[in-house]
Amino acid sequence: MINELLNELDKQNILLTAGNIGHFNSMTIGWINIGRLWHRHTLLVYVRPTRYTYEFIEKYEYFSVNFFEEKYSDIIDFFGTYSGRSVDKMNYNKLTPIDYNNKAVYYKESFLKIICKKIYSFDIKKENFLNKSIITHYYSDNNFHRAYIGEIIEIFS
Ligand SMILES: Cc1cc2nc3c(=O)[nH]c(=O)nc-3n(C[C@H](O)[C@H](O)[C@H](O)COP(=O)(O)O)c2cc1C
Repeated sequence: MINELLNELDKQNILLTAGNIGHFNSMTIGWINIGRLWHRHTLLVYVRPTRYTYEFIEKYEYFSVNFFEEKYSDIIDFFGTYSGRSVDKMNYNKLTPIDYNNKAVYYKESFLKIICKKIYSFDIKKENFLNKSIITHYYSDNNFHRAYIGEIIEIFS
């Protein structure tokens, strides 16, 4: 069971969406943790401050994580290559964004949707790395991720 989940995560066919139906942005994500913390089911995502999505996840209380089948890989590439600053991701014609109680947005085409409410955020810090080789590999530009812990509100397909 855990293997299946890890396999799904490895495919990186995942979009993170923050904001509401009138103002949202989505980007591809590869890094996620799903678990249990403070008596809650939680999901962690990692967003570099340079992403346009960062402005949305900072501003809004909810976010969604959407898993896609491999046939959508071109779309996932698009959302992971282009920024919402230069293309209109809200009106991207191959996906259907759906309002979640005026709190979040998810995609109809996704086979698994997870709605989260932010409960904690923290910055990945250089001095806290125990394996320093990760710094060289992922953070040579000092663009450290901010992590968001979301309480899982609903999971549906
Ligand atoms: C497979 C894949 C996984 C990615 N994972 C992340 C991630 O976990 N965190 C992150 O900040 N950026 C990640 N990115 C990069 C963003 O998706 C990319 O920079 C995107 O264009 C940002 O869009 P935005 O500026 O509209 O937010 C990933 C990209 C790809 C292709």
